[in-house]
Amino acid sequence: MACCLVCSCANDQASGDDDIIVVGVSQVGAESDWRIANTESTKAVFTEDNGYRLLFDDAKQMQENQFSAIRKFIQQKVDYIVVMPISEEGWDAVLQEAQEAGIPVIIVDRMVNVDDDSLFTAHVGADFYLEGQKATEWMTQEFAGSESVNIIHIQGTIGSTAQIGRTQALLDALDENSNWNLLAQLDGDFTQAKTYEVISDYIISSDIRPEIDVVYCENDNSAFGAIEALEKYGYTCGEGGVRVISFDATKQALELCMAGKISLEVECNPMLGPLVKNVIDTLEAGGVPSKYQYVDETVFTPDTVTQEIIDSREY
Ligand code: AHR
Repeated sequence: MACCLVCSCANDQASGDDDIIVVGVSQVGAESDWRIANTESTKAVFTEDNGYRLLFDDAKQMQENQFSAIRKFIQQKVDYIVVMPISEEGWDAVLQEAQEAGIPVIIVDRMVNVDDDSLFTAHVGADFYLEGQKATEWMTQEFAGSESVNIIHIQGTIGSTAQIGRTQALLDALDENSNWNLLAQLDGDFTQAKTYEVISDYIISSDIRPEIDVVYCENDNSAFGAIEALEKYGYTCGEGGVRVISFDATKQALELCMAGKISLEVECNPMLGPLVKNVIDTLEAGGVPSKYQYVDETVFTPDTVTQEIIDSREY
């Protein structure tokens, strides 16, 4: 299926090799450690040694940049387009253009919400609602019998599948647990700096010092910002203090988990490059890849995380 790129003289395609497979990747940005690991995992598989030419575009957190990158990939007549979408909405038109150009699109990590699911060939990523459920199940057990549980919810990039799924799981659990109080829902945008800022503002602007039992952070970088802010304002994180819940389970976060400052780590696996390559290899061999591919993920607590797990962590 690799195209003859020597003929594409009207575009800026860099390859002149008939056999090389050209893959255009539109990445969200570099907002988190998870994202950086996801980029590295992608770059590691689409190498010249493996028979690929990778055209990589960092959208710097802007969906318009993703649209421009995809349109450029179409002009460049790439063989495949891989997209890690920043948010779910707004993809129909640009994916339609890719389909009309005959270029298969593989959606990675987060999802797109489109009217016609033939606009993408496959999705490889996580079940974010299930991740959220794992966190709320832990909370239900941990706070069984508590009179009240005061929660601060730090959301990720609004409109992204990771935010939508993890948020919905918490909202559903709040409906089921009448003793849980949502003190505040704040936008941390998956970054340490933004989360530090919104939690600090929340504490400073409260008339009385808030009693906080749980901070539900929708990713590790948010958890780092939350811990930094909480400790600055005199809170202790861990058992007997504020229970910080986080998603991703990066090496640095697992270290904080082992130290007891993060009470629950729900894994979200960024090492998706090999799975995306499998999809393309299947297509190249004339096969049909599974349309939806979810990765297996686990959870860690200070009791279950070990130095061995941390040392063997790839991200
Ligand atoms: O979409 C996956 C999420 O995006 C990760 O949890 C987060 O760290 C990243 O920025």
